[in-house]
Amino acid sequence: MRDSAKPLVVTVLFGGRSAEHDISLRSTRAVVAHLDPKKYDVRLVGISREGEWLDTAESKQLLKDGSVNGPTRGPYLPAETDVVFPVLHGPGGEDGSLQGWLELLDVPCVASGCAGSAIAMDKSVAKHVLRSANVPVLPWIDVRRRDWQANRSELLTQIAEQRGFPCFVKPARLGSSLGISKVDDVESLARALDHAFTFGEFLLVEPAVTCRELEVAVLDGTPEIVSLPGEILAEDWYDFDSKYRNESAELNAPTENLEPRMADALRDFALRAFRVLRLSGMARVDFLLDKKAGRYYLNEVNTIPGFTSISMYPKLMEAAGVPFDQLCDRLIELALAERRFSDCAVDAPPVEDEQEAAQ
Ligand SMILES: Nc1ncnc2c1ncn2[C@@H]1O[C@H](COP(=O)(O)OP(=O)(O)O)[C@@H](O)[C@H]1O
Ligand SMILES: [Mg+2]
Repeated sequence: MRDSAKPLVVTVLFGGRSAEHDISLRSTRAVVAHLDPKKYDVRLVGISREGEWLDTAESKQLLKDGSVNGPTRGPYLPAETDVVFPVLHGPGGEDGSLQGWLELLDVPCVASGCAGSAIAMDKSVAKHVLRSANVPVLPWIDVRRRDWQANRSELLTQIAEQRGFPCFVKPARLGSSLGISKVDDVESLARALDHAFTFGEFLLVEPAVTCRELEVAVLDGTPEIVSLPGEILAEDWYDFDSKYRNESAELNAPTENLEPRMADALRDFALRAFRVLRLSGMARVDFLLDKKAGRYYLNEVNTIPGFTSISMYPKLMEAAGVPFDQLCDRLIELALAERRFSDCAVDAPPVEDEQEAAQ
């Protein structure tokens, strides 16, 4: 049993191999600044861009200035860890692999578990689940790398006929707009597919809509808290540069420019998505609002959204009445309450020995 007089040991995992390494560092600085030292004993475990795990001194250095100079090691958790707070985005942090490892170790972890994280990370699998729950999603075509390699010209014709132009080509299991292209004709479609397949084995193609981008923050609990929608104002589409390089996109969190009826619909669908995708803790649910048709589509769900003090998720939560420090408290409480592995009854009736049964 844990000694409740002692601060909880919260291990913050950050950095990582994904393209969002720097965002993770920024988010982690904000999270650490909002974890009350009276309640929490924070241990930092940084992961380098190469995927090496760092000891305490090196982790502090990484958080301070992004550098790694000293010894590295494989995955580990500091002794006495009561709960892990992963501030890792993208593959290897947000995709269920880390969560599965922690479930095997029976260590509580903030945000979604292995299954929910993995389902939400895969844009195509998530769409299948969402569509069956009557959440509106854009139509799409799945393409697997080996099929593309075997039948390039047939696939190009099929995609061009079924999807038309302009369309978006995206890797199924990535983020940060990496590997994504907006495509206007068959020649650039082939290039876009080749490019997207350098990032992974599965991709999807969907129609490009002229759209507004609206995002809803969901915080788990009984009941869940669902924010008003925020809006991203990007010049063309929200590509890697506008996200991280020139940061030209503007965030309105929440937006005042949305009919209440539309805001309610998006909030309802965000909550439905959170539930059917088996998510826990938190999620930022992103929508595309077709400007011409006035229709909206759930585009994707992020289970560990950007967490800097100016990021959409904490800003929307603050506007919903949950300031940053309380947000961290609630996420940790939820993680401790939801024991994913140890809670399951595994006793099954005994099965007879194979030989005995055969006699
Ligand atoms: N079907 C689409 N129509 C118009 N814009 C899109 C479409 N799909 C993606 N985008 C643009 O590309 C950006 C990144 O796509 P998204 O699916 O959110 O992937 P990521 O996980 O990399 O953020 C979106 O924020 C949006 O600007
Ligand atoms: Mg996105």
